[in-house]
Amino acid sequence: MTNLYEQLVRPLLFFLEPEAAHHFTIASLRRASRFGPALRVLKQFAPPSKPKTLFGLNFPNPIGLAAGLDKNGVALPAWAALGFGFIEIGTVTAMEQPGNPKPRIFRLPAQQAVINRLGFNNEGADAIAKRLSSLRASGRWPAVPVGVNIGKSRTTPLERAADDYLYSFRLLRDFADYITLNVSSPNTPGLRGLQEPAALSRLLHAIGSEPGTMAKPVVVKISPDLTPVELEAVLAVCEENEVAGIIATNTTLDHSSIPPELDEEGGLSGTPLREKSTALVRSIAANAKIPVIASGGICDAKSAREKFDAGAQLLQLYTGFVYRGPRLLREIMQAI
Ligand SMILES: Cc1cc2nc3c(=O)[nH]c(=O)nc-3n(C[C@H](O)[C@H](O)[C@H](O)COP(=O)(O)O)c2cc1C
Repeated sequence: MTNLYEQLVRPLLFFLEPEAAHHFTIASLRRASRFGPALRVLKQFAPPSKPKTLFGLNFPNPIGLAAGLDKNGVALPAWAALGFGFIEIGTVTAMEQPGNPKPRIFRLPAQQAVINRLGFNNEGADAIAKRLSSLRASGRWPAVPVGVNIGKSRTTPLERAADDYLYSFRLLRDFADYITLNVSSPNTPGLRGLQEPAALSRLLHAIGSEPGTMAKPVVVKISPDLTPVELEAVLAVCEENEVAGIIATNTTLDHSSIPPELDEEGGLSGTPLREKSTALVRSIAANAKIPVIASGGICDAKSAREKFDAGAQLLQLYTGFVYRGPRLLREIMQAI
């Protein structure tokens, strides 16, 4: 039973082109989300709870779903039934957008990695706010914290980035237990420039000046490719603006561990990202008081423990979950 995903489901999914497999999975979980008996089946895979409180929120366990798997927030009940201790949807942008041309997701099974250059394909803040509103009204809202990850629309110039984030923030904050400002995806030109101190300050100030923001934890998701000096500057700006947490990290543009014949343009995730990402977690925990949510290369119990040992408070899974399935959650929970 525990090997069902790796032995049966994954071979079938990996038979499909990566984005087709992704759509099939999301469509299945979306259907399951509306069907009580299906949710009860998924719950059989859920690990026992291990509660944790952070920035005023109660997490049934510290293992969350990373942004990008459910960009449009269509399967919240199913993720909770599978046992995730929190769910981050998005990245959501102010405007609906198609993302980059396909193909744009590439599996590297031997490396336990993925390269993607999706470019924030999503239905846009208005449509997603509407969906979250009907889920709330339906009574099927999950009993775990939900984060909404927001980013900049591709066509909005960088100088107007704060307005773009604000648009999504205003529409989505009431549905979110916390909001993530994504300033680190490598597939939207110029986005990572928002990590520069002046730009980040402007963005955090704009969000922080919104009425009601104080009650909503705002976290910043950073790139693993920041130099130590850049990281120090990001942390100083985040502390100054009372950011509730840092997600370390997004995908990397460092493809040095990937054989050239397998390489593709885009952000690299999974095992090759692990060490670099953990180094940032360690550095933040040692130099700042801001809690860290670790994301990057968590593919087994050992890599999960490594993140906690480095000082992480919570973890998020993406690529490891694609390769290992729901069993990964159990395995980590048994080991921590
Ligand atoms: C296909 C794919 C799409 C992603 N989309 C997003 C996204 O929209 N927003 C975001 O903040 N991170 C996104 N990520 C990054 C993940 O949330 C995660 O931070 C990163 O992949 C590192 O974790 P991992 O090694 O466990 O995958 C994406 C990752 C992948 C593989």
